[in-house]
Amino acid sequence: MTKGIIMSGMRPTGKLHLGNYFGALENWVKLQEEYTSYHSIVDWHALTTGYEDTGELQDNIMEVALDWLSAGLDPGKCTMYIQSDIKEISELFLLLSMVTPVSWLERCPTYKDQLQQLEGKNIATFGFLGYPCLQAADILICKARYVPVGEDQLPHLELSREIARRFNYIYGDTFPEPQALLTEAKVLPGLDGRKMSKSYNNAIYLSDSPEEILKKTSQMVTDPQRIKKTDPGNPEVCSVYAFHKVFTRLSDLEETEEACRRGKIGCVDCKKRLAQNLVEFISPINRRRRELEANPDYVRDVLIEGAKKARENAVKTLEEVRRKMNLK
Ligand code: TRP
Repeated sequence: MTKGIIMSGMRPTGKLHLGNYFGALENWVKLQEEYTSYHSIVDWHALTTGYEDTGELQDNIMEVALDWLSAGLDPGKCTMYIQSDIKEISELFLLLSMVTPVSWLERCPTYKDQLQQLEGKNIATFGFLGYPCLQAADILICKARYVPVGEDQLPHLELSREIARRFNYIYGDTFPEPQALLTEAKVLPGLDGRKMSKSYNNAIYLSDSPEEILKKTSQMVTDPQRIKKTDPGNPEVCSVYAFHKVFTRLSDLEETEEACRRGKIGCVDCKKRLAQNLVEFISPINRRRRELEANPDYVRDVLIEGAKKARENAVKTLEEVRRKMNLK
C-alpha cells in the first residue's frame, strides 16, 4: 500500500536547470518511494503559449525525459508519460470545461500576469484561458490526492479543487479534491542574482559539463560592495553563498561564510570551492545522461510504457465520468 496517488507535470521547455530540479524534480524522486506517482510531460500546455513555434517540441520532450531519468525518476517506481499520448485527458478537459465558469479562469492571477508578461505573443486565446482547466484534467484523470509543485502553482490547484468540487456537486462524488504538496523551498538564484530562468540566460543545467560549471560559477555575481579581497563581504547578498547553502557541507559552509565576512577568502577562491561541490553533485547525473543519450530507444520505451499504464487508469476514470454525466 502506498500513501496515495500523486500527479505532477512539467512543460517541455528543453533541458532542465537547477531551479527546475530543486523546485520539483528532487521532491518527485523522493516521493516515488512512498506514493503512487504519475508524472507527465505536458506538451499540450506548452502549446498554450508556444503554439506558433513548435519546431523544437519533440526535442524538448526528449530533453525533459532524459533529465527526469538521469535525475533519478525510476520507471519501476513511477509512471512517466507524454500528456498528448493520453487522449482521454482531452475528453476530460472538454467535459470539465462545461462546468468551469469563465470568470474563474479570468480571475486566475497567473492568467493576468502572463498576459502582461508575454506581451509580444498573442496568447489572448481560448486555449490559454483554459490552461488551468487542462491542468485540472491532468490531475483529476489520475484521481490524484496530492500534487507536488512549487508555490507558483497554488492558484492553479485552487482552481482544480473548485472544478472537482463543482463536478462532484452536479454529478455526484467522483474526484478527490487535490492538495498541493509543497516542496521545501531551496532558493537558488540565477548567475546574475535574478530568479533562475532559461529566458534570462542565467541558468545552470543538469546536463552542464564540469567545464561549463567552472565557467558559469566564475561568472556569478557576488557582493557588489566588495571590491578588494580584503574587504569584508556580506554573504546574504551573494549568489555564490546562496549556492553554497545548498551544495556545501555545513562545516565547510560555516567556515567559508566566516572567511568571507572577515575578508579572508576572495570571491575567486570561494567560487572554486563551490564549483567543486557542484561538479560532485552533477557528475552522477551527467554520467547517467550520457548512458541514456546513447540509448534513445530505451527512453522512448519508458514513455510508451508509461502512457500505457496511465491510460488504463484514465480510461476507467473517463468511463465513470461519462456514466455520471449520462453520456455513453
Ligand atoms: N502548470 C504547471 C507548471 O507550469 C505544469 C502542469 C501541467 C502541472 N499540468 C500539471 C503541474 C498537473 C502539476 C499537475 O509548472
